[in-house]
Amino acid sequence: MIIREFKLSDLKRVIEIEEMSFDDPYPPSILRDIYNLGAGFLIAQQDNIILGYIIFWIRFEDEGHIISLAVDKGYRRQNVGRQLVEMVMEIFQKFDMKNIKLEVRAENTGAINFYRNVGFKEEKLIPGYYEDGEDAVVMNMSLNSSNPINST
Ligand SMILES: CC(C)(COP(=O)(O)OP(=O)(O)OC[C@H]1O[C@@H](n2cnc3c(N)ncnc32)[C@H](O)[C@@H]1OP(=O)(O)O)[C@@H](O)C(=O)NCCC(=O)NCCS
Repeated sequence: MIIREFKLSDLKRVIEIEEMSFDDPYPPSILRDIYNLGAGFLIAQQDNIILGYIIFWIRFEDEGHIISLAVDKGYRRQNVGRQLVEMVMEIFQKFDMKNIKLEVRAENTGAINFYRNVGFKEEKLIPGYYEDGEDAVVMNMSLNSSNPINST
């Protein structure tokens, strides 16, 4: 599997994965705008098949933020998500970020378990964060010397 930068020609396939992954998927125009605004956008690919993607940006001076992450249903539980997050951790460390944050739907227990497994901790709940009124769980990972990715 390789991880490479997103190209606009990947958008159709990214939308396919987005739509199979979320009840409220980002429309193509928003994903294109996020990309054009300079967010980080990486693709996981194997044998010319796009398996998943991750979108991220630097939100504050020393804080990175994961905007979106999804893996095609047929390729989940094969460490694709983990490798995408680890790549973003490396990038944020190069930019001297101290921590990474994200928001995830409180009912998305699969994703919360995934993020715990890759090293995030639940920080707080934001009631009614999403348009449909669902709460968000804010998750946080410190990028410090005790982080395994730093010791390799
Ligand atoms: C969350 C998501 C990105 C995980 O991707 P993935 O490639 O399947 O995850 P990995 O294979 O790297 O998982 C690593 C570990 O995380 C945990 N994990 C992953 N998915 C899990 C799930 N659905 N339930 C419980 N634990 C899970 C497991 O411990 C897993 O290791 P294991 O398979 O050896 O048990 C994927 O399920 C997905 O696209 N979901 C829909 C979109 C979404 O919810 N995105 C996150 C919110 S932004």
